[in-house]
Amino acid sequence: MFTSRADFDAALAQFATPGRVAVVMTMGALHEGHASLIRAARARVGAKGVVTVTVFVNPLQFGAGEDLDRYPRTLDADLEVAAAAGADIVFAPPVEEVYRGGEPRVRMTAGDMGERYEGASRPGHFDGVLTVVAKLLHLTRPDVAFFGEKDAQQLAVIRRMVLDLDFPVEIVGAPTVREIDGLALSSRNRYLSPQERTTALALSRALFAGRDAGRDPAAVRSAARAVLDEAASLQPPLDLDYLALVDPLDFTEVPDDHTGEAVLAVAAKVGSTRLIDNVRLWFG
Ligand code: PAJ
Repeated sequence: MFTSRADFDAALAQFATPGRVAVVMTMGALHEGHASLIRAARARVGAKGVVTVTVFVNPLQFGAGEDLDRYPRTLDADLEVAAAAGADIVFAPPVEEVYRGGEPRVRMTAGDMGERYEGASRPGHFDGVLTVVAKLLHLTRPDVAFFGEKDAQQLAVIRRMVLDLDFPVEIVGAPTVREIDGLALSSRNRYLSPQERTTALALSRALFAGRDAGRDPAAVRSAARAVLDEAASLQPPLDLDYLALVDPLDFTEVPDDHTGEAVLAVAAKVGSTRLIDNVRLWFG
């Protein structure tokens, strides 16, 4: 594990085989979802490649009143999870090492894609994500970077940044890892009380109901909506932020006659914890 850019660079230079450098970026509190990305990265670059995991809780992507201060920090356990999943190097820099010039004056912007859904509820969030992803791509210099479909809008804005600005990296999206009962793994799940966790199950239940509702967008939306409406009267209640059926590339709402890929995405608060989830659908 390295905390300084210089030590990380020296380690990377020892390992690196051209074309075989992968990175998995995280904010720590690693769980099986992160581990699956690390395993996918390892599988992609092979035994001769290098897999770097970054652990960095990026202040820039948290809004005022969000959970930056209480975000779980579990570095020792993270090192074990990362190593067991096949990481070679963990880069866990302190804030000053990443933002060497202090608050950055020049930043990335996600444009209109950063203003919808997650972006509407968390103004500036995706600009903060893109700024740190751009920096971490520069610092870790990967050929390929892995991100989870769990954060589908994040994946979309990162792909778009790489396309629009010609970052020399391949972006790979990996499927969402869930608990056996459907709850998508998230570092924030640990905030949930047992009762809140039961309510939180309505998110995945709604998405699966939508997915199973058939081939047409209107039926998918209303099946998912019915589950969420019911969950609003659970104890504690599910406080819905949005349910949306969108194009996975730009996160615009798909029309009722849509064909091709779509993402059914949901966000809700349970108690004081904000949760997101989504499933991928295909309309033929
Ligand atoms: P974090 O929430 O720690 O997630 C790190 C990566 O793990 C992201 O690509 C996320 O989509 C993926 N991930 C989280 N839960 C998952 C699950 N249940 N199944 C599969 N993948 C999952 O996302 C961030 O950190 C940050 O915004 C970051 C990209 C690191 C920039 O700060």
